[in-house]
Amino acid sequence: MKYIGNKTRLLDFIDESLAAEAIPIKGTFIDIFGGTGYVGRFYKEKGMKVISNDIMTYSYWAQYVLISVNSMPTFDKVAMGGGGINEVLSILNNPKLSKEGYIFENFAPGGKAGRQYFSDENAKRIDAIRDLIEQWKTDTLLSEDEYAILVYSLVDAADFVANIAGTYGAYLKIWRSMALKPIKLKVPKIFDNNTENIVYQQDANCLIKDISGDILYLDPPYNSRQYAPNFHLLETLSVWDKQPLVGKSGQREYKDKKSRYCSKKLAYNALKELVANAKATYIVLSYNDEGIISREEIYQILSTRGQVHEHIKNYRRFRTEKDHEKRHYKACNDRVLERLYIVKTV
Ligand SMILES: C[S@@+](CC[C@H](N)C(=O)[O-])C[C@H]1O[C@@H](n2cnc3c(N)ncnc32)[C@H](O)[C@@H]1O
Repeated sequence: MKYIGNKTRLLDFIDESLAAEAIPIKGTFIDIFGGTGYVGRFYKEKGMKVISNDIMTYSYWAQYVLISVNSMPTFDKVAMGGGGINEVLSILNNPKLSKEGYIFENFAPGGKAGRQYFSDENAKRIDAIRDLIEQWKTDTLLSEDEYAILVYSLVDAADFVANIAGTYGAYLKIWRSMALKPIKLKVPKIFDNNTENIVYQQDANCLIKDISGDILYLDPPYNSRQYAPNFHLLETLSVWDKQPLVGKSGQREYKDKKSRYCSKKLAYNALKELVANAKATYIVLSYNDEGIISREEIYQILSTRGQVHEHIKNYRRFRTEKDHEKRHYKACNDRVLERLYIVKTV
């Protein structure tokens, strides 16, 4: 998934940095700004118990599936033939399952709003699939794990065929080839680490007071781009409240999802408060050089908890296709310094 701040390509860097500090990879790993859930999943696969969190609902379901679920459920109330997840996905992937609903009206060219996030065909299929999942849930035919897996699988598949350049802030005027391919839900890979992992959907600064662990990984937003407006469609598909949408891009209301970490005025104090309340042996912070909070300020905050060790990686930044077009005309540096700050607190 293309996601601002996604650390998939930095997992080795993070892991090597922890190894260089001789940090034991055991006990509880907390990923309090979980995003895609990939960092938590990485440490789950290394055998740690994982606590993961994010304010966004699409992220909650992703973390639920990648981190909390340890075995594939049977789907026995829906897959009457005993075929489990594969049987359920063959029902949902049937092209005949199609209807002109909320997604079609708001996000496809044939709908009232005329937006071009999905082809008409994919939008109709997303509508029918999402409604059916919700109906199954209302009819108590799905366990919580089963519901999470289906919502995650749909959101992931929809993201794959979305006609966007990287975020949902705008749709493309010209169709990208992937957007014209039929949507297809896939079976997510479930991993069992033989322990109970926990996922939350809370403000990190509130949650921090209630949890403790061995490694606390902090990957807050580092610039003013709020996640809620940039990934609104994923949130809309996850919450499925069919609320009225506004603006050119079909935004949902996001007052309660605004992050202090995206505000120049509030970010420093938010991080300071978070670090002061952290109960973990190690605090590990990812932050890049172009962030709102300066390196000096980060040192001020972290050194209240112990000696700060820093690891640096020269990294190709997240770019949308639009950014790439601009760069055709203006040669600019595509790379950024990604810093990992590590503190042992005791
Ligand atoms: C840089 S991204 C994390 C990316 C993640 N490490 C990954 O690899 O996908 C920051 C995440 O923090 C979340 N977020 C922002 N403010 C938050 C807050 N106050 N509490 C919890 N999550 C927050 C955003 O929704 C976003 O998913």
